Amino acid sequence: MSKQPVSRRQFLNYTLTGVGGFMAAGMLMPMVRFAIDPVLAHGGKGEYHTTKQKVDELSTKPTRVDFSYEQKDAWYTSEVTQTAWVYKNEKGEIVALSPVCKHLGCTVDWEGSGHKSQFYCPCHGGLYEKSGKNVPGTPPTRPLDRYQTKVKDGFLQLGKPEPQDIA
Ligand code: FES
Repeated sequence: MSKQPVSRRQFLNYTLTGVGGFMAAGMLMPMVRFAIDPVLAHGGKGEYHTTKQKVDELSTKPTRVDFSYEQKDAWYTSEVTQTAWVYKNEKGEIVALSPVCKHLGCTVDWEGSGHKSQFYCPCHGGLYEKSGKNVPGTPPTRPLDRYQTKVKDGFLQLGKPEPQDIA
């Protein structure tokens, strides 16, 4: 096996390519991390937030539950406050509905404007049944989202609101 001498030109090429690649990686990594960090920071499906609502105080009548938590977007941390309408259904299961109207995102109110046993959206008169199902003939075309729920030490924990599939 013959040894090929490395020319001065080859040596410089290898060295500069290596150093250049290293520097490019050093510059690109923070940019990539910056771009994907908000996605990672949200924690996805498994994240639950503890509320001040005791589960044994829930009834069949929807109760407004406000809860706050810290949200980190890249280097910026902010306090987020969200709301859920929470009750126990006839099977004793906890139902926690998002108040965000599926028409244009206003906030719905239980029995607002005198609408008995319904959620009412004041923006364009949207109506939903107690289950969150949208009432046909009113602007919303989809049911209210439903939070995932857990109970810890007797207190309600809420996860991510997800679309409901109610016929
Ligand atoms: S935003 Fe609720 S009905 Fe339009």
